[in-house]
Amino acid sequence: MRVLVLGSGAREHALCAHLARSPRVSYVAAAPGNPGIATVAEAHAVAADDVPRIVALAQSCLIDLVVVGPEVPLVAGVADALRTAGIACFGPGADGARLEGSKSFSKDFMARHGIPTARYATFSALDAAVAYVRAADHRVVVKADGLAAGKGVVVCDGVDDAVEAVERALRDGAFGDAGRTVVIEERLEGQEISFHAVTDGARVELFGAAQDHKRLGDGDTGPNTGGMGAYSPVPVCTPDLEARVMREVIAPTLDGLRRDGIAFRGVLFVGLMVGADGAPRVLEYNVRFGDPECAVLLARLDDATPWLWGAATGAWPTEPLRPRNDASIGVVIAAEGYPDAPRRGAVIRGLDAAAAIEGVRVFHAGTGRSDGAWVTAGGRVLLVTATAATLRDAAAVAYRAVDAIELAGAQVRRDIGWRAFAQG
Ligand code: AMP
Ligand code: GLY
Repeated sequence: MRVLVLGSGAREHALCAHLARSPRVSYVAAAPGNPGIATVAEAHAVAADDVPRIVALAQSCLIDLVVVGPEVPLVAGVADALRTAGIACFGPGADGARLEGSKSFSKDFMARHGIPTARYATFSALDAAVAYVRAADHRVVVKADGLAAGKGVVVCDGVDDAVEAVERALRDGAFGDAGRTVVIEERLEGQEISFHAVTDGARVELFGAAQDHKRLGDGDTGPNTGGMGAYSPVPVCTPDLEARVMREVIAPTLDGLRRDGIAFRGVLFVGLMVGADGAPRVLEYNVRFGDPECAVLLARLDDATPWLWGAATGAWPTEPLRPRNDASIGVVIAAEGYPDAPRRGAVIRGLDAAAAIEGVRVFHAGTGRSDGAWVTAGGRVLLVTATAATLRDAAAVAYRAVDAIELAGAQVRRDIGWRAFAQG
């Protein structure tokens, strides 16, 4: 099978590396990829959301399966265009991608189909939004309606924060057009789980659950980021909880999609909050793998290719998908200044030494080449993953590898996995 992966981050590097190892895959290409991806796949300089050029590339490379990493090309309809051209695609069409592309669409979808989520209201007018947050008897989260690369969500501590967030979105246009409408929802407490299920629109299989660390700083402090590290398995996600999420969230979501006439092929990544009462509630839908979650989920699977192909084509595997009984952890190394103004061009050393440690894989997110050296070229620079028998072992190995990498001003959380360790 010849596969093309769209995107250019650590998620796509992990996908390309995983696919390249599969005995079912003879050729892996990436568009646009990155210099790290180019060590395991053929990188083509085509933007992932340039739909006509992606279709042409897939045709000229005789691609059997396109795996879409990020949400933007899906919202732009790349999966529809590929399928129209007769090319199998792992990822929903533009209709299904709205679950992620519009927060108000996804909240209305959940309300319509009885899927548990935080209470909410949607506003485009500043005065009404401010009045709502002033009157609310609970803490709120203010979300830009459209895609804002993970930066359009403000988790507010008090009314003043909330008013400021609403003013920044609706008065100051801080999130551009994505924030001309905001969803204001009840702030939920509990543990977050990134729940991934693969589906061909008819059948569904749990792909895996991971926990991300969204805040920049140790102890979950500082601004929200795209994610600073992840691990799997997640102790709080017991088999009972998994079954409950499949029953109460995933099944009604797929039913809802069918009733709304949306054929969803790909991965449904549901961000869940599990409260003290043990009940899962949906924070958000994503229509693609999480990043950094993808790498730690793939690390525990021998070969995910049959499910990527099965979701894309309906040729569903007969074997159940079973992650190995080991543990994987991924630690992000971010550039100085991330998330506001990441510093580019800083030299990275020690990549080979880190990758030589047993159980370690280093995935590139924002790297470039300059005068024969690796340099920073984005906010999240690297994802250092380790797989071992237990989460504690995996963490120890991953941080040994992180410490082997030299990058001036690097920002690294030292506590990835802390909630699992706190549980003993
Ligand atoms: P989202 O893009 O909707 O996932 O939001 C980004 C992050 O904001 C989530 O991963 C949570 O950490 C946080 N968040 C979003 N919605 C809520 C909520 N209703 N209550 C508490 N935290 C939330
Ligand atoms: N790590 C969270 C996400 O990919 O949205």
